[in-house]
Amino acid sequence: MESSAKARGTGIAKRTPEYIEEKMLEGKAVIAFTKDDKQWAGFCYIETWSHHKYVANSGLIVAPDFRKSGLAKEIKKKIFDLSIKKYPDAKIFGLTTGLAVMKINSDLGYEPVTYSELTQDEDFWKGCRSCVNFDILTSKERKNCLCTAMLYDADEKKSKKKKNKFLQFSKYSKIFERLTQMKKTIFLRQQRLKDNP
Ligand SMILES: CC(C)(COP(=O)(O)OP(=O)(O)OC[C@H]1O[C@@H](n2cnc3c(N)ncnc32)[C@H](O)[C@@H]1OP(=O)(O)O)[C@@H](O)C(=O)NCCC(=O)NCCS
Repeated sequence: MESSAKARGTGIAKRTPEYIEEKMLEGKAVIAFTKDDKQWAGFCYIETWSHHKYVANSGLIVAPDFRKSGLAKEIKKKIFDLSIKKYPDAKIFGLTTGLAVMKINSDLGYEPVTYSELTQDEDFWKGCRSCVNFDILTSKERKNCLCTAMLYDADEKKSKKKKNKFLQFSKYSKIFERLTQMKKTIFLRQQRLKDNP
């Protein structure tokens, strides 16, 4: 996960192998394998914050050979269903710079939100310390960073359904792509100026 984040020039909230192992043992992970030779193909896990009021589906990764065939979508759906089963009253959220993940999240019913609508659990935000963009997050007083925040709020969905007010991501994907690019350009330039005035 770390090397793939480096390869795409973004940051990652790093976790230890022991932490990931614990998630698997607790049944809070989805692992994809090939049917015949049990080759590893993809992964994602569940984290809970603010006393189980918030759930994050983190660490989504698909092995390079299996990308662009809908596997991430399948893994995300499975971990989403597992999250709802385990924590039916929680809000589910994710932070990402990836357009593919934004699209998958949107298809599942997540909507873009401001960081203030996410968990304010200090331990969650401490996880961002290992990200290369952590200085940007702190300089923005945790209100913004390169990642786009997306949230699935089952209660709000019920009331919105009545008003038929869903955001169609496919209609706006170009805007999100541009926004992510703009944030990257502006925030990284500001950070460079701060480091080398
Ligand atoms: C991001 C990643 C998980 C996507 O996995 P994948 O199996 O290739 O994704 P899928 O095939 O399920 O694609 C899901 C959707 O995203 C779209 N998509 C895939 N890659 C994309 C890209 N680079 N840019 C824009 N859209 C993309 C697909 O077209 C598909 O849309 P559709 O439902 O309209 O067909 C994979 O590339 C990966 O592991 N990357 C490195 C780790 C990473 O970035 N993790 C995410 C951290 S938040």
